[in-house]
Amino acid sequence: MKLNQKETQLITELKNQEELCLQKYNFYAKQAKDPELKSLFRKISKHEQNHYDMLTELTNGTVPHIRTKSPTAVKYEPKATHPGDQACKDFDKFLCTDVIATEKYVATTYNNDLFYFASPEVRNVLNAIMTDEQNHAEMIWKYKVANKMAA
Ligand SMILES: [Fe+2]
Ligand SMILES: [Fe+2]
Repeated sequence: MKLNQKETQLITELKNQEELCLQKYNFYAKQAKDPELKSLFRKISKHEQNHYDMLTELTNGTVPHIRTKSPTAVKYEPKATHPGDQACKDFDKFLCTDVIATEKYVATTYNNDLFYFASPEVRNVLNAIMTDEQNHAEMIWKYKVANKMAA
């Protein structure tokens, strides 16, 4: 499988986005006040690393194995765990809102970009990653609702 110039450029831009996601989740995992949110961010950051590695495989000319998809958001059942006062809660709420906006943007980018790829196998990979990003946004949204941060 060989990508053309346009496809290669799109994958390079997607890799930059995945790198930003990875950095953001690692950084926010350190910043978050609630340990439950820290562990959620850490878990998602591992998925973002997987995405980055899959895109690297594509640029090397191989179609990556689609790893077991991240556990669907359906199975994620967060409880009201936030230990902090209102200021701490507002802080974590901001982190959640920010990453949901990022996920929305990234998922939309995958959705737009995959139309440019000739190979159905490559489109399947990009589609699987897009579904992961939607799951990330949904899990964080569920955390917000459980912790009364959704309003
Ligand atoms: Fe990702
Ligand atoms: Fe994501």
